[in-house]
Amino acid sequence: MKSLNTRVAIIGAGPSGLLLGQLLATRGIDNIVLEKETGDYVLGRIRAGILEHGFVDLLREAGCGHRLDAEGEIHDGFDIYVNGETHYIHLRELTGGTTVVCYGQVEITHDLMDAREAAGLVSYYEALDVQPHDVLSDHPRVSFRHQGEEYEIACDFVAGCDGYHGVARQSIPESERTEHHTAYPFGWLGLLSDTPPVSKELIYCKHERGFALASRRSAERSRYYVQVPLTDRVEDWSDEAFWDEFRTRLPPEAAERLITGPSIEKSIAPMRSFICEPLQYGNLFLVGDAGHIVPATGAKGLNLAASDVAALFQVLARVYEAGDRYCVPRYSEIALRRVWHGVRFSRWLTGMLHRFDTETTGDLPSEIYSRFKQSELEYFLASEAGRRVIAEQYVGLPYETL
Ligand code: FAD
Ligand code: PHB
Repeated sequence: MKSLNTRVAIIGAGPSGLLLGQLLATRGIDNIVLEKETGDYVLGRIRAGILEHGFVDLLREAGCGHRLDAEGEIHDGFDIYVNGETHYIHLRELTGGTTVVCYGQVEITHDLMDAREAAGLVSYYEALDVQPHDVLSDHPRVSFRHQGEEYEIACDFVAGCDGYHGVARQSIPESERTEHHTAYPFGWLGLLSDTPPVSKELIYCKHERGFALASRRSAERSRYYVQVPLTDRVEDWSDEAFWDEFRTRLPPEAAERLITGPSIEKSIAPMRSFICEPLQYGNLFLVGDAGHIVPATGAKGLNLAASDVAALFQVLARVYEAGDRYCVPRYSEIALRRVWHGVRFSRWLTGMLHRFDTETTGDLPSEIYSRFKQSELEYFLASEAGRRVIAEQYVGLPYETL
């Protein structure tokens, strides 16, 4: 068995794990990243696209903001299309100058991977059977297999950045965590294509046939979604069927501009939320999707992963720079406060923008639920105060300091 030593063992080389590793490295805090897949596989997952300013600042602090600053698109706002009318949520005006940046998760991961390699930081891709041990002690370990060899890392802390299906959360005894789950009976069918996007900024569409979102990755690459029942399978959706459905749900002037083409990627993401409490167990921390999932409507999944990273980075920097170990248990409390806000906001927007055939709350049948949601949306869009409530949360609530 090969023995390794580090300060922080990071499980997972998604955006959470790589960003944490990079930030720690800026303060000289040694870390090792363990990823079960290949780098190419990680880069093949097409996911988020909208970044809050807090995330953008964090990427810059990690020394990974150059390409983002050059190629990321600043979006001043977005459209909500409902009842045949388009309402512009002017983020910049409504929030006193804050905007979001459109830059794909794949590009972020790419930049972080390149930075990690350039800095000579240690990563093991295709690391199998990763398992944390003794995380309640001051001497946690992480074992894994790599290219047929057994390894063990001795460390101070373990960061579980390994997504919803990862090993970190599962290694916390069930009696020590509570999981809150909610699921919708629908998902988003997403299509990526090398076609000029239909709009310079995003259009969230509420249509009687269901929700649709026109997003983008660049001037030449479009990312579009339609709400579909969870019973649908991606194989049953031809590109033509997608384009027809998407066009129907768009505002007519956008539908006229729509340029279609072959899909590069097509997948269905279920809409659900999940929170694990607490987000730590001794010296093991859950970060990003390992600890929580949100429905994609508010573009919050990746952004909440980033605020977890910011919270954990502050804690670990204080441990190593000020010798203060008392702040360690505060990670979960700080991260969770923002997570609950993000989950609530995502659920709220999802409720107002989607078609509901079966959703009920308490004594409300789905017909009444849908009508209440429609009237809530109309109410919020009609007033500047209402639009500001949407805008403030969309650009991201402030990060908490330790
Ligand atoms: P992940 O990106 O999941 O990374 C976890 C990493 O850990 C993976 O590379 C995985 O291979 C690795 N891993 C897992 N298990 C192990 C193990 N046992 N050992 C070692 N490594 C392991 N968010 C948005 O804001 N907008 C969107 O449009 C959007 N679309 C999405 C679509 C889909 C299909 C999914 C699944 C998510 C989407 N999200 C979206 C959410 C967003 O992509 C996530 O919040 C984000 O990826 C979280 O980053 P992460 O690093 O925490 O987790
Ligand atoms: C995306 O571009 O993939 C995207 C943008 C905004 C969302 C969800 C997904 O709310």
